[in-house]
Amino acid sequence: MSLIDTIKKTPKAELHLHIEGSLTPELMWDLAAKHSVSLPYNSVEEIAAAYNFSDLQSFLDLYYAGAGVLIDEDDFYQLMWAYLSRCHEENIVHTEIMFDPQTHTERGIEFATFMAGFLRAMKDAEEQFGISSYLIMSFLRHLPESSAFATLEQAKPYFSDIHAVGLDSSELGHPPSKFERVFKQAKQHGFKIVAHAGEEGPASYIWEAINLLEVDRIDHGVRCQEDAELMTYLKEKQIPLTVCPLSNLKLCVIDDMKQHNILTLLEEGLLVTVNSDDPTYFGGFLNDNFIALSESLGINEEHVKALAKNSFIASFLPEDKKRQYI
Ligand code: ADE
Ligand code: ZN
Repeated sequence: MSLIDTIKKTPKAELHLHIEGSLTPELMWDLAAKHSVSLPYNSVEEIAAAYNFSDLQSFLDLYYAGAGVLIDEDDFYQLMWAYLSRCHEENIVHTEIMFDPQTHTERGIEFATFMAGFLRAMKDAEEQFGISSYLIMSFLRHLPESSAFATLEQAKPYFSDIHAVGLDSSELGHPPSKFERVFKQAKQHGFKIVAHAGEEGPASYIWEAINLLEVDRIDHGVRCQEDAELMTYLKEKQIPLTVCPLSNLKLCVIDDMKQHNILTLLEEGLLVTVNSDDPTYFGGFLNDNFIALSESLGINEEHVKALAKNSFIASFLPEDKKRQYI
């Protein structure tokens, strides 16, 4: 079997995926027409051609604007259904999906609207494809703490549908410490905790996510290598890092995929996983990320199996379910 076949056929979990970042240019175009939302593009091709970024913020500006076409329940259903159908094609059997409520509530969209669409698609995917999926509610870190608290309050009717809370958006200048109190409250409600840290931000933000937010996983975390003590800690505690290679390349965290440190981190014994982050904006879904690593870093079949195994170990699945895959 070729390596590409191994990548495609190996059952995998995806742990770092923003559902708003899986909006295809085609669906954006169709929904803009449906709702008479004006886009600064004249065609689907123009949308796709605009996806060139210089850093995280230059991407986020487009990503939040793109999400403006998501208005009614069926839009959110279609978005989720399209991603889960892609999971089925890619042999992703379990996925833990981030959504950004504030991106929608700030535009006047009700929690009930997006949650109903998401949950209906997730149920259909479980029934039709046997894919299990969990939701991670992420707070936007460029907004104030009070907005995160309000979001947690609005989510109350859906607590049983949400597995974890997370932290995303513009990292620099918005350290995890800004959200210590809201994460404490989320933890008291029994949520698992994740946070983006060490994507563009320094290793000290990873320490803050660990010590102040008490995270179960770090999203990205690739800058951990700048702190030897942190590397030792992550290895000893086996705190998972949900690494996103194509995202790091597209957002200029690295200049060349050959520079990516995921293989070094894996070989050092850290619990790293491969993920797609915002696949339609970064030029590839999960299997494309594995393929990029094979082309640039020469990962082999053993690496693919180890990374896939890590994705289940690092997941929030119950132990008996994990054991089916590890
Ligand atoms: N929101 C969506 N994608 C993100 C990323 N890569 N980093 C921070 N926030 C995000
Ligand atoms: Zn992300």
